[in-house]
Amino acid sequence: MEVVRTGIPGLDNLFAVGGFPKGNSILLIGGPGSGKSIFGMQYLYSGITEYDEPGIFITFEETPEKIRRNMLSFGWNLDALEKKEKLIIMDAVTYRISGDVDEETLRSGLDVDNLIANLDDAISAISAERVVIDSLSVMGLYAYDEFEKRTKLLRLSNLLSMRKVTSLVITEARSADIGIKEFPIETFMFDGVISLRLDTETQERKISIRKMRGTKHVIGSFKFSITDYGIELTP
Ligand SMILES: Nc1ncnc2c1ncn2[C@@H]1O[C@H](COP(=O)(O)OP(=O)(O)OP(=O)(O)O)[C@@H](O)[C@H]1O
Ligand SMILES: [Mg+2]
Repeated sequence: MEVVRTGIPGLDNLFAVGGFPKGNSILLIGGPGSGKSIFGMQYLYSGITEYDEPGIFITFEETPEKIRRNMLSFGWNLDALEKKEKLIIMDAVTYRISGDVDEETLRSGLDVDNLIANLDDAISAISAERVVIDSLSVMGLYAYDEFEKRTKLLRLSNLLSMRKVTSLVITEARSADIGIKEFPIETFMFDGVISLRLDTETQERKISIRKMRGTKHVIGSFKFSITDYGIELTP
């Protein structure tokens, strides 16, 4: 089986095959500040710098400028990778808030149709093998109802699987107990689910793999930290 390394020190070992099965679409779920965006960018950054696998980051939350600036604090020079055409940061933020798009068009799903077309082009442009979407929760706001949201999600997930990219789709957890009591319905559409959380009692960050089609994986919560170099599991 072909495997994609996660780029997160200590994480690959938790999968029997040594990483994500290639082509999987993985939901990364966690509360605010749990490290989702950093995890996503680290997956792309190390994919490019260590494995020469180009990547695409679609942002619905922070502007590309802000992301480039924040990620510099880990020594990740995204600008350089973009210039080398190894990384594309697709800006769904300014797109969303730009004046020439009216509210009605926005809510009726312009986002996803356009997104799918743009993403398809972007994957071809740099031969991307990794895709990160940050985040589904914000994207989902621009749908009329649950049914429409799920239909859009299915179309997006079809594209991801047709193009054989290994993708991380970020979403906000609705409660601290995520994975135990409350699962969003989207969970079932993904090949894998990874959760990040901050334990408010012990002030520890924890990661767990809830599901990963195609490989055995360790069950349990593992401590991780965010250091000057990014995310790493605590040995
Ligand atoms: N340079 C750094 N060194 C250590 N920790 C950092 C550093 N930069 C950010 N952090 C930690 O990472 C957290 C933010 O991580 P990140 O942006 O990935 O979270 P998130 O889950 O995407 O949050 P949100 O839901 O708000 O988008 C900060 O709250 C902070 O605790
Ligand atoms: Mg974030």
